Amino acid sequence: MRVLSGIQPSGTLHIGNYFGMMKPMIGYMDQAELFVFIVNLHALTSLQDAETLRRNTLDAAADFLALGLDPERCIFWVQSDVPEVCELTWILHNFTSMGLLERSHSYKDKIARGLTPNHGLFAYPVLMAADILLYQSNIIPVGQDQKQHVEITRDIAQAFNHRMGETFVLPEPEINDDVAVVPGVDGQKMSKSYNNTIEIFTDREALRKRVMSVVTDATPVEAPKNPDTCSLFALYKLFASPEDVEAMRSRYLAPGLKYVDVKKALVELIWNHFEPHRDKRAELTRSPDTVRDILAYGAGKARAIARETLALVQERVGLNY
Ligand code: ADP
Ligand code: TRP
Repeated sequence: MRVLSGIQPSGTLHIGNYFGMMKPMIGYMDQAELFVFIVNLHALTSLQDAETLRRNTLDAAADFLALGLDPERCIFWVQSDVPEVCELTWILHNFTSMGLLERSHSYKDKIARGLTPNHGLFAYPVLMAADILLYQSNIIPVGQDQKQHVEITRDIAQAFNHRMGETFVLPEPEINDDVAVVPGVDGQKMSKSYNNTIEIFTDREALRKRVMSVVTDATPVEAPKNPDTCSLFALYKLFASPEDVEAMRSRYLAPGLKYVDVKKALVELIWNHFEPHRDKRAELTRSPDTVRDILAYGAGKARAIARETLALVQERVGLNY
């Protein structure tokens, strides 16, 4: 079974990325043939600053490695190092209806937020389909926001298979329901694009400030509070033990809880959660060449598989003559 997922280096990785995608992927290491990659071509749709893209790409790779991704037990690479994906994207464009892309929630959301769309943003799901289909992937672990993109991939694969003969494996999205959407400090979905993130590897003071800025409602200290509508509680739940979550729930439901106390506890929990990985992360920052070597090794393995699929597709559509 092949499990594949990618992450955009469009900003610094945050705890939404961690729970929604990185942690489940790392957990798959010994259970599947695992494909993990940094999708820098996708990031170009929103990030057009060369130095930042380069830095974010290496940083995202270092984050994964520090958190325990072992390049010997998976294939770990940078998307643009396997250029076959661009050729497959072009081929797939011709099996993708305009309507399919016009219905993309993520595209519509971005426009609604005032982004002036370029064609890359519109075509984004086709590149993602090529990512998935090039490696004949079965399972795609992603956050809730990416589910539709995997469905679009299935539609494109079905259209291709139907017209050109069985070629692609149909992938299934896998959403971890416990952490389907990690809220950001403003209560919306945590996202690199909304400036509401809590970063995985940050210094303690920055972490404290960020957690202190989590929005809470104006319920007075003396009144009981609703844990189920509180972003702070949602974040607390991700890090605390089940017993501590239950204890905290009771404190919410009784009078006297101060949100600032929950925030202080949350800072400790987040800090301690990532503590075992901090030395390794610092070491990788000091040796970017190590990270580059690991990525080049992964790209070699990915490319061998990509070439096989692309050869089959070229044959199916008649690009080999
Ligand atoms: P961002 O919105 O920060 O740019 P990406 O779109 O690059 O994040 O997402 C990378 C992965 O992390 C995807 O699988 C996505 O579903 C997951 N993810 C991102 N934000 C969250 C979140 N707030 N909660 C859960 N999963 C998330
Ligand atoms: N679009 C995904 C996101 O923003 C990233 C991505 C690109 C991806 N290609 C992929 C995820 C292939 C899973 C599989 O999160």
